[in-house]
Amino acid sequence: MSTESAVIAIDGPAAAGKSTVARELARELGFNYVNTGAMYRAVAVAVREAGMESYGGGDFLERLKALLAAADIGVAAGRVTLNGRDLGESLNARGIDDLASRLSALAPVREKMRAMQRRIAVDGAVVMEGRDVGTVIFPEARFKFFLDAQPEVRAQRRFAQLAAAGAKTTLGEVLQQLVERDQRDSSREIAPLKPAPDAIVIDSSALSVKAVVGRMKAFVAEGKKDRGS
Ligand code: DC
Repeated sequence: MSTESAVIAIDGPAAAGKSTVARELARELGFNYVNTGAMYRAVAVAVREAGMESYGGGDFLERLKALLAAADIGVAAGRVTLNGRDLGESLNARGIDDLASRLSALAPVREKMRAMQRRIAVDGAVVMEGRDVGTVIFPEARFKFFLDAQPEVRAQRRFAQLAAAGAKTTLGEVLQQLVERDQRDSSREIAPLKPAPDAIVIDSSALSVKAVVGRMKAFVAEGKKDRGS
């Protein structure tokens, strides 16, 4: 199967509901599901564990390249591993989202992730979510969605998740961090967050998960009919 027909790309800002929607869409279509944000978070965990999180030395990029070459990051069945270890909840540790965002602006990180993500589609049909799946990783994908929602709605959703997990934070702090991260992810030079020119933009602010998945499935069904398959 060509990657054109086998990939459904879902991009969008933080906490727009991409993971929930992508996982459900993949389940209903019988596709694999890949969360590329979790892969960037795995890089952040590796950097933190190497003690390089706040390292500002002139040889940072060289050390990062060596770390990336040695880091065996695996993605399978919705789990992300680092050198054989399931990262589980450490992907959600405090500050890992921000560190992932900062590292994701760097060319060596993006190059490693791109190569890995392109390879994953060889294993079969996939719903892949992230920031640059439709623009850079699979510009040839037949279906590209850009899932957005108002910042206040996204912050409220993320705050509810964090509160349920017992994190001590406030709605205002969550909103500020989301806005800062989106700003950084959208303004970087390489693979900035933006909708692909041919992406279908869906604003989920007032939509349930079921409604968003339903819309996406309708586009996929329509697209298949157009192609006569
Ligand atoms: O989706 P997430 O919040 O887990 O992603 C964490 C960070 O990783 C995000 O702020 C930017 C980066 N990222 C990226 O640059 N490109 C992707 N395709 C996915 C994530």
